[in-house]
Amino acid sequence: MKESIKLTINEQALTAKPGQTILDVAWANDIDIPRLCYLKGLSGVGACRLCMVEVRGVPRLLAACVARVTDGMEVITDSPKLKSYRKMVLELLLAERNHICAFCVASGNCELQDLAQSLGVTHVRYPYRFPNFKVDASHDRFVHDPNRCVLCTRCLRTCEEIEGARTWNVRGRGIHSVMITDLNQPWGESPTCTTCGKCVQACPTGALVEKGRATGEMTRTGNLLPKLTSMRESGR
Ligand code: FES
Repeated sequence: MKESIKLTINEQALTAKPGQTILDVAWANDIDIPRLCYLKGLSGVGACRLCMVEVRGVPRLLAACVARVTDGMEVITDSPKLKSYRKMVLELLLAERNHICAFCVASGNCELQDLAQSLGVTHVRYPYRFPNFKVDASHDRFVHDPNRCVLCTRCLRTCEEIEGARTWNVRGRGIHSVMITDLNQPWGESPTCTTCGKCVQACPTGALVEKGRATGEMTRTGNLLPKLTSMRESGR
């Protein structure tokens, strides 16, 4: 197997290791790519499509968080086409559920809100769906509001890959999908939840929050998961 891969990102000549994703290489070289479902320390699933990039010779956009680098690859991470696609994806996410920042405990600490600001989303061009999912406040310490969920599955992967509890699952398909605990019983009655709170820390929006927080009071530890992962890998 080749020991190193040569590629360009935005015409910058770079070297990568086999198996690295485009996002890994971009990050290692201080090239920012918008992302939402990706969280360092978890496996990539390519769910949100915000990290799409252009690759010369490939007739479709690729999700940088899951696409592996190959020798001679020429990647573009920023172009008018990508900007317009990312904006559209974000607007569709905003239209799909109820992301009303003025009444959200995660306002000011929300990755969806940050992305909307950085990508210049000032309004949504699509009709809002205004779903009415049931909020689950049965847990002693946490609340699950599926109306604010973007289905990134970061909670599910954190629970499975870091905590090893496998409490979270996805029920349904497409826009009817909803995160559930165990076999869809209330979170407070979950026999597998360890109440570790890692899923709440991993959530990028106000879908999973700590109880008793008022608007804008939900804060998160930015580097918690990479730290936990590296501690696990090094056996500390
Ligand atoms: Fe790559 Fe979501 S960050 S698809």
